[in-house]
Amino acid sequence: MLLVDDIQLAFGGVKALSGVSVHAKAGEITAVIGPNGAGKTSLFNVVSGFYKPQQGKVTLDGEDISALRPHERAYRGMSRTFQNIALFHGMSVLDNIKLGAHTNLTSGILSAGFRLARTRNEEAALERYIRQDIIGLLELDHVQHHHVEDLSYGLQKRVELARALVMKPKILLLDEPVAGMNREEKREMSRFVVDVRKNWKTTVLLIEHDMGMVMGISDHIVVLSFGKPIASGTPDEVRANPDVIKAYLGTGDEPVAEREAAV
Ligand SMILES: Nc1ncnc2c1ncn2[C@@H]1O[C@H](COP(=O)(O)OP(=O)(O)OP(=O)(O)O)[C@@H](O)[C@H]1O
Ligand SMILES: [Mg+2]
Repeated sequence: MLLVDDIQLAFGGVKALSGVSVHAKAGEITAVIGPNGAGKTSLFNVVSGFYKPQQGKVTLDGEDISALRPHERAYRGMSRTFQNIALFHGMSVLDNIKLGAHTNLTSGILSAGFRLARTRNEEAALERYIRQDIIGLLELDHVQHHHVEDLSYGLQKRVELARALVMKPKILLLDEPVAGMNREEKREMSRFVVDVRKNWKTTVLLIEHDMGMVMGISDHIVVLSFGKPIASGTPDEVRANPDVIKAYLGTGDEPVAEREAAV
């Protein structure tokens, strides 16, 4: 589904990514893990078209999309969430989710192609679709008319996921979807990601520091350290890889503070 091939990305003298390749198979959950500053978010920015790498290629469904702009990639079925919450305060959950149909696609031609809510009828149709397909799936019914800023942190992150899902993406990029959540919220979010994949066969690319979530739901994991790939494989393979343990996971024998700083 998504092939990221031999990416080199530098900011001035800082090499953020070198020789990074990722293959996200259709319908699978592929995780990208690694220490802070390893280049995970930079990789997402390359995949979604926000950063132009100096070298390398991004292919979606067989099409080379390397030269395409973010909205053109969105049009082809790519959607993402951001590391920090980016919802519109003063607006309801429903309206924030509706914006996913607009913010993903800014150009007039593209939105016409997608038959976005131009008329009142279409607006109503969009709302009906969101209520049935998105709000139901993510269990947001009880808060759909609340202002987003009144929701718990965990629910706000869920609204972001809902917004990223409005266009029924082929591939969904999630940047730390459970960061800052409590245990229960993390469990719920993991379940929703798995449900989306199951119901819609969505391909998922996941960045996450929470190893419980990553090891629990991923089919395949790629490990980055200092901008370079150091390992890839199944959760069991990656967990047992000495290089990954050294660079990121630790042995479990380190002092707790050190371990938490690493993860
Ligand atoms: N726009 C930018 N300009 C300059 N340097 C950048 C930019 N974006 C990222 N970097 C640098 O690239 C490197 C990788 O950063 P990135 O945010 O991709 O790491 P990360 O793996 O997502 O880390 P974290 O786990 O903390 O989110 C860092 O050294 C960072 O400072
Ligand atoms: Mg990041």
